[in-house]
Order: sequence, then structure tokens, then C-alpha cells
Amino acid sequence: ERGEYRHYMQKEIFEQPRAVADTLEGRIGPHGVLPNIFGIDADPILDKTRGIHIVACGTSYHAGMVAKYWIEELARIPVVVEVASEYRYRDVVVPENTLFVAVSQSGETADTLAAMRESRRRGYLATFAICNVPESSVVRESDLRLMTRAGPEIGVASTKAFTTQLAAFALLALDLGRRRGLDGARYLDHCKELQSLPRYIENALKSEPEVLKIADHFINKQHALFLGRGAQYPVALEGSLKLKEISYIHAEAYPAGELKHGPLALVDENMPIVAVAPNGPLLDKLKSNLQEVRARGGELIVFADERAEMDTETAHVATVRVDGGGDLIAPAVFTVPMQLLAYHVAVQRGTDVDQPRNLAKSVTVE
Ligand code: M6R
Repeated sequence: ERGEYRHYMQKEIFEQPRAVADTLEGRIGPHGVLPNIFGIDADPILDKTRGIHIVACGTSYHAGMVAKYWIEELARIPVVVEVASEYRYRDVVVPENTLFVAVSQSGETADTLAAMRESRRRGYLATFAICNVPESSVVRESDLRLMTRAGPEIGVASTKAFTTQLAAFALLALDLGRRRGLDGARYLDHCKELQSLPRYIENALKSEPEVLKIADHFINKQHALFLGRGAQYPVALEGSLKLKEISYIHAEAYPAGELKHGPLALVDENMPIVAVAPNGPLLDKLKSNLQEVRARGGELIVFADERAEMDTETAHVATVRVDGGGDLIAPAVFTVPMQLLAYHVAVQRGTDVDQPRNLAKSVTVE
């Protein structure tokens, strides 16, 4: 089953170009997102949508966080993202014409399912599921759906489920954008960009040998800090979740601008810092955040876009170059080296990568 791979997780990381291509297959073409991909009843609902609440757990929650950046930017629709275990017990305000979106790889996560059932009483326009298992409860109980086509995910640490969820959310964001007046040329550019995502992921996988060398660095560490800005902040969160889950190293993620509001006090030579540095308007801001880290002796590992101007001085330990593609797909592309890093650190620390202690693949209890 695992073939040439040592663990399911590694196999699943390398399956991502195919999984994402399958998820986009028959859903987007040269003229944009194809009609009816969200179900034949979707049109009137999506036309009416004026707000979105995204609810999920763990990695699926991080996908929702990326989607917030995309949907708000492209469709100008306000998005709230919340973990299911909080959402379900809270008295949430639901403005008129709000769409409820549940995200789940398994479609059986107890809190996500309960949140979705609770949403029925809260007056939403409709419920929409992004899910990887067609026969799951979340899918059966939703009004609209977009299936990810990652194929079975065996490793407890979610990898291909995440990037396919991002692909699904990008389709939704673009479709909503088109409905809400997104400029036609920009729409088509982003559609093309999304179609190129499998290629960029393929390319990002080539960073494995470099990442493997960096992994050495974490073997004896107890803590790590991940930094990102904008839509790369959830990618930093996802990188830190992967690392803690399978390597048992305590990791936290911060939006880089928050560093000086507290976490900078933690930075010393024992604290590796992983930063995601895509090209774009926030690059200079991020660079100055990284200078602050360096000045305090922190060991920096930077995953930087090929086009991002980084002097070699910026990173202490290493700069890994990744071609992130455009800014829409870059969060999905930069996720890949984060996954590889967590994977190789865990392998070198000798943990049970596919079955980390205390965790279950599908959390069907509350
Ligand atoms: O099946 P789901 O997407 O609903 O699962 C949600 C989380 O339990 C899951 O993403 C978990 O956080 C993973 N172990 C993360 O790698």
C-alpha cells in the first residue's frame, strides 16, 4: 500500500499534485468555474449569499482560515471562521443570508457534525459541506457540497486533505467573486492560476532534500515558532500543528506582526523560527520582523518565494526557495515544505509518524 514510501504520511504528501488535480477536474475550465459544481440547487443560494460562517476542527479549520482571506478579498463577502467545539456552544449572531460551511476530511468529526446540526436551528440560508468522504454524515446532512477528491487519507496528520480543501475553497471563492462583481480579467487570471496549482505543488515537493537537511536542526529542540502574514498566517498555524502532532515538539504560530507584542521574549538560540515569506506587499514588513528575531540570536529558517528579494543575511540557518505561483495559490504551495519539515523531524526523532500518541484519525467523540 505504501509502495516506495516509508510512511503513509510521506506517500500522502507526494500524492498532492494528483489529489489537487482530481479535485479541480471537471470543475474549472478556460472560461472559469464550471456551472453547477456545487449542486443544481446552488445558484439561487450563492447569488443571495451575503455572509459566510465556516466551522471546522484542526487542519480543516486552518483551511477555513485561508478561505476567509480569499472570499473576503475576491467576493467582498464577510467571513467568520470558528472551531466547531466553540461555535456549537455559543450564541452566534447570524445575519440574514448567511451561508453555513462545514469543512471536514472525514465528515464524521463529532463537533463539526454537531455544529452543523445546531446551525439548522440558527436560521442560515443553507448548509454547505466541503468534505472528502461522499457517504459521510456531514455530506448526507448538507444542502450543498463540494467533494474533495484526495482519496483515502490514512496518516493521522492531515496533508492532502488540507491542500484539496484549499482547492475546493478557491473554487468557491472565485465563483462567489464572479457573482459579486470581481473584475473579469482578474477572475480569469486567478482561474488559470488555480489550474496550475498541481504543477506548483509538484515543484515544491522538490524541496525535500533541502528540508531534510534543515530537519536535523530540530532533533534536539523543545520549541519552535512559526511566522506568517496574511493568508500565510494559517499556513504557519498548519505547519506548527503538523510539527507538534507528529514530532511532539511544542510549536506555536504567530502572525509575524504580533511578535513584538509578547512572543519575542521567548526568542533565543534554542528557539528555531520558521517563517513563510511569499512575494508580495507584506514581504518588507516580514523582513523587518525577521531582523528582530535575528538580533536576538534566534535561528531562522525561511521558506521564501523564488522572486522574493531576501539577502542571504536574513536567515541564520537556511533559506529554502519555493516558487509559490501567484498570491492566490501560494498558501497551498508553501504548505508543502511545512509538511515535509514536520515529517522529517518526526522521522529523525523516531516517533510513530502515522499513528502519533494520544490521537485518532477521526475524532468521533466530543
Ligand atoms: O476529519 P476532519 O477534517 O473533520 O478532522 C479534523 C481534525 O480532527 C484533523 O484535521 C486533525 O486536526 C488532524 N490530525 C490534523 O493533522
